[in-house]
Amino acid sequence: MSERRVALNPSGAASAPEIEAATLRIGKQIARAYPSGFRHPGRMLDRRAILLVSARPDVQAALFRFVDATPAYRSPQDVADHLTAYLGDLDEAPRSLRVPEALCGREVGVRLVAGAASSAVNRMARRFIHGRSPREALGHLRDVWDSGAGVSLDLLGEATVTAGEADHYAERSADAIDVLAAATRDWPGRPLLDRDSSGPVARANVSVKVSALTPLMRPNMPERGRDDAATRLRPLLRRARDTGAHLHVDMESFDTLETTLQLVLGLLADDEFREGPSAGLVVQAYLRNSPQLVERILAWAEDHPRSQPLTVRLVKGAYWDHEVAQARQRGWIPQVFTDKAECDRNFEFLTRRLVDARGLVRLALGSHNLRSVAHALAYNELTGGTNADIEIQVLQGLGDDLRDALTSERLRVRVYCPVGDLVEGMAYLVRRLLENTASSSFLHTNQRGVPIDAVLRAP
Ligand code: 2OP
Repeated sequence: MSERRVALNPSGAASAPEIEAATLRIGKQIARAYPSGFRHPGRMLDRRAILLVSARPDVQAALFRFVDATPAYRSPQDVADHLTAYLGDLDEAPRSLRVPEALCGREVGVRLVAGAASSAVNRMARRFIHGRSPREALGHLRDVWDSGAGVSLDLLGEATVTAGEADHYAERSADAIDVLAAATRDWPGRPLLDRDSSGPVARANVSVKVSALTPLMRPNMPERGRDDAATRLRPLLRRARDTGAHLHVDMESFDTLETTLQLVLGLLADDEFREGPSAGLVVQAYLRNSPQLVERILAWAEDHPRSQPLTVRLVKGAYWDHEVAQARQRGWIPQVFTDKAECDRNFEFLTRRLVDARGLVRLALGSHNLRSVAHALAYNELTGGTNADIEIQVLQGLGDDLRDALTSERLRVRVYCPVGDLVEGMAYLVRRLLENTASSSFLHTNQRGVPIDAVLRAP
């Protein structure tokens, strides 16, 4: 593969000390705008659940085994049974769920733990998932818009095992595009969200997963999954183009990366998609090879001029546990950084590279980390970008405080809103738990009394 490095605008004008000073200034400004915990007691409750899980590696491991089996679950009862079984394997129930030994035998204890876990899962689901269908979620999506942020609708469901399931997911996605495109047309104008320096920004934004679009994903045969998924993704791209919607293809585990990349870049290279739709893909900064991936995408973008530049959503990556466990099983070195600081530095390096590519690609930054966000905004500002030129993406239910802080500072935010039922959402929910947000999120560090200068220090 060619190792071409695209020459970008010489914005090297910003020096490292300048970037640090601006990052500190912007980070503090956003921190001051964070809503206080008292205003949203519900959010505090969920934070406690997340803290609890992140402090317990054995609970994490049980959840991890549980989520690995999710494609096999067929009903909420199935989900509950499996959860019971996995948590029942633990030597000791999480303390807050434990019942006094004297009051019950181990059997009852396990059932109580599972019951508590199930209701915690249900509560969490309601916080993260705001509707079983796009239509049902419209009220919430409009509320998000009225609060000053855009939305991306994510249809829950992934890792399909039959062609029928993949067809069904494609139908739901087409419906989501139609429903959202029609509804958002009447939403009041918001200049910050409706356009950036490359032109108009689509309001209707739908995220899809390739593993849901084909049952044929095999790492050793990327072409097979790619070609099968293409038969379902091509009509969705046409639908998005014809309705003016944006279609975003999520990135999943490493063994599906090549399929996903070939699929998206291959289809978008077709003449029929040159004038649209607006579309995007994801780069996961926890991957050691992500700098090469970014170069590959930038080289593609240079060779394939589009009236609406490709959007690159830069994230750290949500499949860390899966990648590390899989590498261990096979005796391989993980594809992901195992050192958080290394990953954070890479995230910042890629941020600067993508900001420098303004005009060639659009940058969406998917992170809840205040330092990472402030650094991106600082670099964007120092290199002549406007507030509209970077989109910060947060997850519904997890990034609500950051969203409020950013919108109150007139920064551009989009909220990733999953839609579907509990069975479809199980893998997604457990990823959110395992992300271990507790250690990196600003509010948690703030609650632990970490000074803001430490939170904003360069990784
Ligand atoms: C996930 O599904 C947000 O795409 C990310 O975990």
